Amino acid sequence: MNVALLASGKGSNVENILCYFRNHPKIKIALVASNNSKSGALIHANNYSVPTLEFSKKELETSSILLSSINNYKIDLIVLAGFLLKIPELFIHSFNGKILNIHPSLLPKYGGKGMYGDHVHKMVLSNKEKTTGITFHYVNEDYDEGKIIAQFPLFLEENETLSSLKGKISQLEWSKYPQIIERLCNE
Ligand code: GRF
Repeated sequence: MNVALLASGKGSNVENILCYFRNHPKIKIALVASNNSKSGALIHANNYSVPTLEFSKKELETSSILLSSINNYKIDLIVLAGFLLKIPELFIHSFNGKILNIHPSLLPKYGGKGMYGDHVHKMVLSNKEKTTGITFHYVNEDYDEGKIIAQFPLFLEENETLSSLKGKISQLEWSKYPQIIERLCNE
């Protein structure tokens, strides 16, 4: 199975996934793609000698640059890990829905346009939620609304801060994302 990772930011999930699958007998991270030339994901890919692809928002929306690479590398599953652009409808259809995303809340809570990164955690804290968590879901045409694959809760402490919460969510994401990829690849 060939997997492509798409990321826009720091890329800590990408690094963790690259590390987990580096000697995997069946699953290969064949491509890391980003719309941000400064994304840590591209640096991590270079460190693991995985091919990279950079594209602009416009190229994603109007050209087949990503689709051609996906075809060239014979990608079976696309994994979004902190990818901030909307995946075009045509792309979703031509890839037959095999696109997986992670979201740092228990969807449908704190999902949708503009709900990413710190925005999510700040809302969770200001609403004094007792529980939050992470969601793995398929990508469809609407932000964070695709079919849910798995959710993992996290219980907030009384004195939880943005920084402590972010740290715990990241730990949970790192511990679960590789397993979810493995599970989908084996289905
Ligand atoms: C993660 O919290 C993920 O849930 C969200 O964006 C963040 C990406 O972090 N979609 P990183 O770039 O993997 O460090």
